[in-house]
Amino acid sequence: MFHSLLEERLQRAVQAVRPDAAVGQVQVRPATDPKFGDYQCDALMSLARECRMNPRQLATDVVARLEIADLCSPVEIAGPGFLNFRILPSALATVLQSALHGEHLFFLPARAPRTVVIDFSSPNVAKAMHIGHIRSTALGDSLARTLRLLGHRVITDNHIGDWGTQFGLLLVGWKTLLDPVALERDPIPELERIYKAVSARSKEDPATLEQARAELVRLQAGDPENLGIWQEMIRLSRVQFDSMYTRLGVEFDQTLGESFYNPWMRGVVDALVTQGVARESAGAYAVFSDHTVPPKDDPFLIQRDGEWQDNPVLVQKSDGAFNYATTDLATLDYRLRTWSPAEIVYVTDGRQQLHFRQVFAAFRRWQPEAAARVKLVHVWFGSILGENGKPIQTRSGQSDKLADVLDEAEERALQVVREKRPDLAPAEQSEIARVVGLGAVKYQDLLPNRQSDYVFSWDKMLALQGNTAPYLQYQYTRAAKVVRDGGFSPGPDSTVAPTERSEVALARHLVNFGAVLVTVGAEYRPNYLCNYLFELAGFFSSFYEACPVLKSEGPLRDSRLALCELTARVLKQGLNCLGIEVTERM
Ligand code: ARG
Repeated sequence: MFHSLLEERLQRAVQAVRPDAAVGQVQVRPATDPKFGDYQCDALMSLARECRMNPRQLATDVVARLEIADLCSPVEIAGPGFLNFRILPSALATVLQSALHGEHLFFLPARAPRTVVIDFSSPNVAKAMHIGHIRSTALGDSLARTLRLLGHRVITDNHIGDWGTQFGLLLVGWKTLLDPVALERDPIPELERIYKAVSARSKEDPATLEQARAELVRLQAGDPENLGIWQEMIRLSRVQFDSMYTRLGVEFDQTLGESFYNPWMRGVVDALVTQGVARESAGAYAVFSDHTVPPKDDPFLIQRDGEWQDNPVLVQKSDGAFNYATTDLATLDYRLRTWSPAEIVYVTDGRQQLHFRQVFAAFRRWQPEAAARVKLVHVWFGSILGENGKPIQTRSGQSDKLADVLDEAEERALQVVREKRPDLAPAEQSEIARVVGLGAVKYQDLLPNRQSDYVFSWDKMLALQGNTAPYLQYQYTRAAKVVRDGGFSPGPDSTVAPTERSEVALARHLVNFGAVLVTVGAEYRPNYLCNYLFELAGFFSSFYEACPVLKSEGPLRDSRLALCELTARVLKQGLNCLGIEVTERM
């Protein structure tokens, strides 16, 4: 909370001193070291450089104009122009109070809301969603939730893979091998079966491959029979995807699959060629380096045997078919024309890094002006590993289907709930197990730095101690229970006055909720929020151990109950940003 309040006042002061300055870059962050106070700002130095001013002088002038006596003790200018802020206990109490009265939850709506398109999940048609899909889905969903909460306009788009050469094989399979009874019973495994069978056959039998090619050509030419089958495969797949999204609590504003962009593909390639961005090469069309950036930063060059060689991206194959990159260029163009976003975020695994660097670079050359108005970000992530340290897809015996993994998570959670809470009715036990099981899988995924690989571990993710969802969900139930048992509901004159060390520590951490949300949205890293919530739970535990709540009396009791109430609210809202639910009992 204070980061926004201080930032607002500081920006006003900067504006007064330098009306021409770009004040947006003047940001306040929680101090990295408590030695320097509670909050810090180090933006004045670069601003001074831009204005050709002495940084200390600028800092002194700004501080002279700064009206923050109600929030902080006198500001300290350190070194060449760092500002350090120390929050007054009275200001801390005021902010806690206004939060208690529902005026905010330690964050303010963004002053400059941005339109952000988030492209995530994006599974392929005719295949079951596997455990790997939890990554893109959980990450993308939590970024969408966080940015939305901060007041940004978010458009989520599921860019499903519903077009491409695999449909040639699938069509042959559908026409020659399909078992309608199996399809009726459980469509995706049947589609996977026919695909595998035809794919294997085509490797030995050139006639099958030829057949597949012919079916694909017919589909592309709009043959009604093939179009009908293709649409049915998409429909069946979307039923499966949708049931998974409902279960995970994930919603999309748009599901514009790759095929949606077919009408524009020809035009994209023509435009790229006309503008000299793409050129012909052995009957195909591709984008090559324009040698405007150093080779090491050029996605169209690659170093082989100590030499820089061409590493073009194909936009049309020699048989006339378009590529994955062509679709992404058409998609990018469509999104900019349709929603004018300030930012487009693509959440996929790290193996697509080169693809997105090439697509972004090609787009900048194709539409430099439009590209200058948008920030394009590839938010990539590493792999999920089995206990053997190998990517989990290869682990033997156990299913890696997402549905099976979620089932198992709920079953394992149910065993624990039955053991710990035999007193609860079976329906409540199952509901707790559902919330805990799904939360555990998502949290395990969101907690590590997204770019590192992590080991999938049932024991670790379901542990009630440690940095896990069940631990946070349990701390939530504890805080909420104290509030209930205390019969607490904040009235107009409830006050919060933290005085004990552990109360102050908890309060100071609570007010930083908003700063963490902003960082998650700016750096696309929900793991910051995970760690913030884990620390919050720790501060809450220490407070709860050190300070009697229900046994204290009068205003002290109310103030402590208010801290419990605010902790519960922040834990619940924070977990919600991660796509994780809570229950009132565990
Ligand atoms: N369907 C793709 C895959 O499974 C992911 C698509 C990501 N989004 C995009 N605009 N390329 O790898």
